Amino acid sequence: MADPVSKKDGVAWVTGASSGIGRDVALRLASDGWTVVATARRIGELAELARLSKDLAGEIKPLAGDVTDKEAMASIVRRINHDHGSLALCVFNAGVFLPIDARKFSADAFRPTFDVNLVGVANCLEPAIARMSVLGRGQIALVASVTGYGGLPTSSAYGASKAALINLAETLRIELDPIGILVQVVNPGFIDTPATKNNPFPMPALMSSPDAADRIVDGLQSKKFELTFPRRFTYALKVLNLLPTRWRLALVRKVTGWSDPHTTPVVPTGDS
Ligand SMILES: NC(=O)c1ccc[n+]([C@@H]2O[C@H](COP(=O)([O-])OP(=O)(O)OC[C@H]3O[C@@H](n4cnc5c(N)ncnc54)[C@H](OP(=O)(O)O)[C@@H]3O)[C@@H](O)[C@H]2O)c1
Repeated sequence: MADPVSKKDGVAWVTGASSGIGRDVALRLASDGWTVVATARRIGELAELARLSKDLAGEIKPLAGDVTDKEAMASIVRRINHDHGSLALCVFNAGVFLPIDARKFSADAFRPTFDVNLVGVANCLEPAIARMSVLGRGQIALVASVTGYGGLPTSSAYGASKAALINLAETLRIELDPIGILVQVVNPGFIDTPATKNNPFPMPALMSSPDAADRIVDGLQSKKFELTFPRRFTYALKVLNLLPTRWRLALVRKVTGWSDPHTTPVVPTGDS
């Protein structure tokens, strides 16, 4: 059965490393001595991250790549293998939060979230699993969200994409564990990053991004399937999801301001 990998097994690949959680995970891994291949679209931000890693025990190697480009993701794995060594650890974190006002539902507004959050992860999984299968060892963490636990206002696309990721991670855990690849899912609550800075609603138990990165990297050293934090918030959501659906939806409607047909709650714009 699969065990957590260590830096002796090879290099780490973090997607969505140009800001927020991915950036801090890359920095924490490099502080721990890992060689980290950091990818995202904004190469300038990644180059800055590589400069920051100069004083750390490990190093960060920037590579530009859009997760919606399947060939680009395959090429990143080939370059990792050729230039840096075995691909041991993947943190597939790239994601977008694009809120949708369901009263004006649009398939065109829905699709980009799935292109990045779900198909983007599949584009990374294909070459990563192919490589790790040959090695007979590896570890892959998918960054989903507690939003995937159940329906929340404005999250028809985002929440559905994260629910799909949680389900995907469960399936991969079942199938890949016997061939030595450990699969985990990361379900953060509210984390203070560029993606959440313009949220117009209160964010209970908001956690800093470096603290979230510490929880993730510490959890990667375990075989736990789900890494979720801050637990005082995410466990409360788990309990909420044990309620009968009718009660749960009524409660969510009430606490988020969607129970009064005469008020129009603010729909966040999303910024990533
Ligand atoms: N912040 C939270 O409260 C929270 C809670 C639960 C889950 N999450 C999840 O955590 C992950 C990171 O979120 P964050 O809050 O750190 O957001 P963020 O600061 O906006 O970072 C998102 C990262 O994803 C990258 N990205 C977006 N589209 C991409 C694409 N097409 N190809 C490659 N990279 C792409 C961005 O880089 P470029 O723009 O440079 O490409 C950026 O590095 C996401 O999956 C998010 O859903 C966040």
